[in-house]
Amino acid sequence: MTAILRTPGDWPAILLPRDETIDPLDLAAARERGAFVGLRRAIQDLGPTGTIATVAASGLRGRGGAGFPAGEKWRAAAASPTGVSGRRYVVANGYGADPSSQTDRTLLERNPYAVLEGLVIAAAAIGATDAIVAVRTDATDAIRVLETAAAAMLEANLAGDDIMGSGNSVEVTIRPVQGAYMLGEETVLLKALEGKRGQPEQRPPQPATSGLFGQPTVVQNVQTLAAIPWILANGAAAFAAIGSRASPGTILVSVRAPAGAGVAEVPIGTSLHDIIALAGPRAAAAKLKALIVGGPSGGILPAELADTAYEYEALRAVGAHIGSGAIVAADERACIVDLARLLTRFCADEACGKTIPCRIGLRRVSEIGDRIATGVPKPTDVQLLADLSADIVGSALCDHERLATLPLASGMRYFRSELDEHILRSSCPAGVCRPIAVAATSAH
Ligand SMILES: Cc1cc2nc3c(=O)[nH]c(=O)nc-3n(C[C@H](O)[C@H](O)[C@H](O)COP(=O)(O)O)c2cc1C
Ligand code: SF4
Repeated sequence: MTAILRTPGDWPAILLPRDETIDPLDLAAARERGAFVGLRRAIQDLGPTGTIATVAASGLRGRGGAGFPAGEKWRAAAASPTGVSGRRYVVANGYGADPSSQTDRTLLERNPYAVLEGLVIAAAAIGATDAIVAVRTDATDAIRVLETAAAAMLEANLAGDDIMGSGNSVEVTIRPVQGAYMLGEETVLLKALEGKRGQPEQRPPQPATSGLFGQPTVVQNVQTLAAIPWILANGAAAFAAIGSRASPGTILVSVRAPAGAGVAEVPIGTSLHDIIALAGPRAAAAKLKALIVGGPSGGILPAELADTAYEYEALRAVGAHIGSGAIVAADERACIVDLARLLTRFCADEACGKTIPCRIGLRRVSEIGDRIATGVPKPTDVQLLADLSADIVGSALCDHERLATLPLASGMRYFRSELDEHILRSSCPAGVCRPIAVAATSAH
């Protein structure tokens, strides 16, 4: 089971209860701690317009990576015509595409009522009667917990017909889905929920106007939804006071350092250094070389940038992103060229193939990375990498293509001398890469 890293501080824990002994499925205890106060306020006091205005005023941004304002998405879906079917949908994205990040799975297992309450509030606010949680088939504990929690809510009239006598009806369904990395992308996920094989869709239209079965659909990461009950119970201003000015609230991070690992909740804007330190005193003291921030398409940052704020714009400015919430700290034993090429290969392998610059370009970029790491680069490789990356990003159909070149781009930007060692001297300073030339010589 994933370790929860202790996060001291004078800010309220919104996503993960600080007391680890709590039974996540005890509905009565959850209500004593304040669960479902937000739902009551939304459906009995605020109504759809007031609820959406509160979410918008809180400044809550999507935790699935892109950081889009939740209130804006809800407003668009609520205002979009439904046609004759009259249907709108809310989909909680709990797919957790990045295998190196345990954030969303941990949340689903430890705080299912927060996710489901947020889901029901979102549905009532946009006028949807169908609310779906999409979760990986192999996340069996999360599926069991969610199904038990949803049944308890139905029994307690916190979901289902005429919730709390308000006239709002929301049917909650837990939908296990299985596929590759790209299934976490929202338009692919929606196709999977329709029972079809999916590839990312050109936008516009956005899912908020034409999503599941062509109907207005709010797709929201499970963390985004889990923050909603707290916002409605405590007010938009209280939420806006936590985290950074541009990105209020808290977020889950999945940390892996040489001396410790686990999932932590932190206010957005916490420094990378302080997040790594949560993995334990030995992690805090370890001499780090690089931080991979954002998962497989993350940026590789030098340790000198560890005071960067974990926040959408601050990370983008240094060539990384929040992505899947994964932060991996590497020490002197790591080779940046090797890391960058392995991440790029993962991204190339996972590209769905719909767009040619992504399909062919990422493969070429990955091959160049392999050439450099194995000691047989061409003199034009560095320029070729830069040109290819620009072409790939410029023709992006989906965010995967826009982000997949980040590991190499950031590696080249911050660790140029290490790259040059590989190219000019066929030498790997960290002793990780096995240049073909050396391997061939030693074989004789
Ligand atoms: C390749 C790729 C994989 C993604 N995987 C996930 C995922 O596993 N979970 C998730 O919530 N969002 C994922 N996203 C982002 C979603 O497309 C979408 O932006 C998000 O679910 C919207 O919710 P939010 O606004 O609350 O972040 C992925 C995007 C891309 C391009
Ligand atoms: S950009 Fe890449 S991952 Fe995205 S749709 Fe095109 S081929 Fe698929």
